[in-house]
Amino acid sequence: MTNTYLVPTLFGLEGIVARELGFLDAQNIKAYDGKVTFEGDFNTMARANIAMRSGERVLLVLGEFKAVTFDELFEGIKALPWEKYIGKDDCFPVKGYSLNSALFSVPDCQAIIKKAAVERLKKTYKTDWFDESGAKKQIQFSIQKDIVTVMLDTSGEGLHKRGYRVASKAAPLRETLAAAMVSLSRYRNGEIMLDPFCGSGTIGIEAALYATYTAPNLRRSFAAEKWSNIDAKVWQEERERAISKIKPTDCKIFCSDIDAEAVSMAGSNAKRAGVSKYIDFSVCDARDIKPTFEGGVIIANPPYGERLMEMEEAIRLYKSFGKVYKRFNNTRAYILTSHEDFESQFGIKADKNRKLYNGMIKCYLYQYYKNALESRK
Ligand SMILES: C[S@@+](CC[C@H](N)C(=O)[O-])C[C@H]1O[C@@H](n2cnc3c(N)ncnc32)[C@H](O)[C@@H]1O
Repeated sequence: MTNTYLVPTLFGLEGIVARELGFLDAQNIKAYDGKVTFEGDFNTMARANIAMRSGERVLLVLGEFKAVTFDELFEGIKALPWEKYIGKDDCFPVKGYSLNSALFSVPDCQAIIKKAAVERLKKTYKTDWFDESGAKKQIQFSIQKDIVTVMLDTSGEGLHKRGYRVASKAAPLRETLAAAMVSLSRYRNGEIMLDPFCGSGTIGIEAALYATYTAPNLRRSFAAEKWSNIDAKVWQEERERAISKIKPTDCKIFCSDIDAEAVSMAGSNAKRAGVSKYIDFSVCDARDIKPTFEGGVIIANPPYGERLMEMEEAIRLYKSFGKVYKRFNNTRAYILTSHEDFESQFGIKADKNRKLYNGMIKCYLYQYYKNALESRK
């Protein structure tokens, strides 16, 4: 059975997520601001949950309709085939948001959606009472310009929660964003990679997962695994498929940080992710790094000066690290920071920069690649 799914994305990552879904054989992929939709069966949904690197979650779209009154909302919800998805004992809480719409009160919409779904299910299951003790079917709605979209969350915890990052210090990068940075860096299998501000190791770990074709969410579970309307063999098949794609690599990834405790946590995180043999962790001040390799790529998320240290200190660090980078030969660099004049501090104009959001913080990914790519020819 073909369904429509919606993947919320961080702003700026829509194209990357659409491309990833293409590699996973999703059909009819469409990218919009902050989301990507696709079509597929339950196997495609399970595959997206397990193997997508940069999408936030996979929502099963149940229906879409216009509503400007609570009556229209109630009737539109009641008309959906809830009994196909929600069993008698399932738990089905409702959450969502409304933007630029006549129905703007989210708590009221939540209550009406719940009431309408219950009304429909009462008839099917011939009961007035649902104790909701079974599997969780989180109903998620959005109302945008009066169009109501009703979905069920197949992922459960957000897909950035891979399960490997139990330990982190201040300001860890969201895993989905780190994976997108690796993808944007055109990181190639076997290449040397360096993150000199590694913190909890997210970028290095995501790079190792990418280089070994390892699905990032292979080791975690998903809400829809408990759904009785989806055969357990769907998940088994997709896990086996993901395992069959893993390829060992000879890539070498260097991760360092000035903070010894962070480096130790990063090492434990890499072990949990199953990629520690590809990553060399060390305690080092980025200002002291010597260019011990040629080519390769630096991918980094240095302190911004907003959360971790004073702005002036961050600027001094960018200046010093710019001098370090100039000593590297044919090495690309992809540096994420919220500083709008990073390039003048770093001392080199970026070939390109791209606006990305690290949580609520507007950042730019400064990309240095032209010289290095030229020398590859
Ligand atoms: C924004 S955090 C990086 C977070 C990391 N990407 C993660 O996902 O956990 C910046 C890191 O830079 C480190 N740092 C600050 N000054 C440094 C320096 N001079 N040399 C190396 N690392 C430094 C901090 O200890 C911190 O871990």
